[in-house]
Amino acid sequence: MSELPAMNEQLDRVEERGLAELREVKDEAGLQAWKAAHLGRSSPVMQVFSKLSQAPKEERPAIGQRANQVKLALESAFTMRSQILKEEALSQALQAERLDVTLPGRTLAPGRLHLETRTLREVYRLFGEMGFQVYRSPDVETDEFNFGLLNIPEYHPARDMWDTFHTTTPGVVLRTHTSPGQIRAMREFAPDPIRVILPGMCYRYEQVTVRADIQFYQVEVLAVGRHITFGDLKGTLTQFARRMYGVDVRLRLRPSYFPFTEPSAEMDVECFICGGKGCPVCKQSGWLEILGCGMIHPTVLQNGGYDPREFSGFAAGMGSGRIGMLRHRINDIRNLWTNDIRFLEQF
Ligand code: DAH
Repeated sequence: MSELPAMNEQLDRVEERGLAELREVKDEAGLQAWKAAHLGRSSPVMQVFSKLSQAPKEERPAIGQRANQVKLALESAFTMRSQILKEEALSQALQAERLDVTLPGRTLAPGRLHLETRTLREVYRLFGEMGFQVYRSPDVETDEFNFGLLNIPEYHPARDMWDTFHTTTPGVVLRTHTSPGQIRAMREFAPDPIRVILPGMCYRYEQVTVRADIQFYQVEVLAVGRHITFGDLKGTLTQFARRMYGVDVRLRLRPSYFPFTEPSAEMDVECFICGGKGCPVCKQSGWLEILGCGMIHPTVLQNGGYDPREFSGFAAGMGSGRIGMLRHRINDIRNLWTNDIRFLEQF
């Protein structure tokens, strides 16, 4: 009996069901499942092929041909469906991840140098114009360089002014001022004349206030040679202050005491807040101290390798934070190192 009509009908249904189910497939996982069910080795259409040998010989070509048509129809439907799904997924992604290229970009805030760096560079420039070079000396010093060689022996009460941080190595401290660099520069250059400035961070064990912090920048000034007088000191420092604060700044030199200079003085500028009338910032004096200075003490010259009968020199030390405060009317020195960007951005 002919199996052909039943077989054809069965294949028609296989094709119909395959195509109908394919239309319901929504994604890649569904596609793969469909392919396994309808074109895989145990799928109905493939079963027809594997059982072909059981069909009557003369009907085999016709059955085979029809099975082939069904297989091809399913395959091409599958290709089309996966193409459609791919396009749908793409256009969905484009929709969901759309970039609005018309949005304005985020601007980068321009960086800037720290106020202290700018002040220091200005100090270098001003002294550079007067022939002074920058000389670096270490932040970590021995007790001998920080005190002893600067004419501050161990029992000397002046040590109280420069209490410091001691390291765990006995006799090694964080420098309290840039003055020890004087000895280092002198020992390097003696007996040649010297004109250098020594900038650097200094450290002190002290109460933090609006005027004082435990670390701060200083710039030391050092000139050594023959026939250097107090007039040279006054001229150089006055020139510096005028260039820094303006030509009409009012200045005064006031006698003072430092163990490493003789005579010693301090330079004051007129208080920028009250204009000299007296106010809380200048403690009613009308003046603000900007630096300590003096003629280098003979003992210090000698410690640096210069014969004090032949050589003389002057030195000065100033806090650059104080310079910045005066120029920009900053009333709290702690702002310099708290890293508050809102403060720093102003300069
Ligand atoms: N070293 C002093 C201080 O830190 C400042 C100073 C005063 C430096 C007089 C000098 C000087 O070179 O001559 O307080």
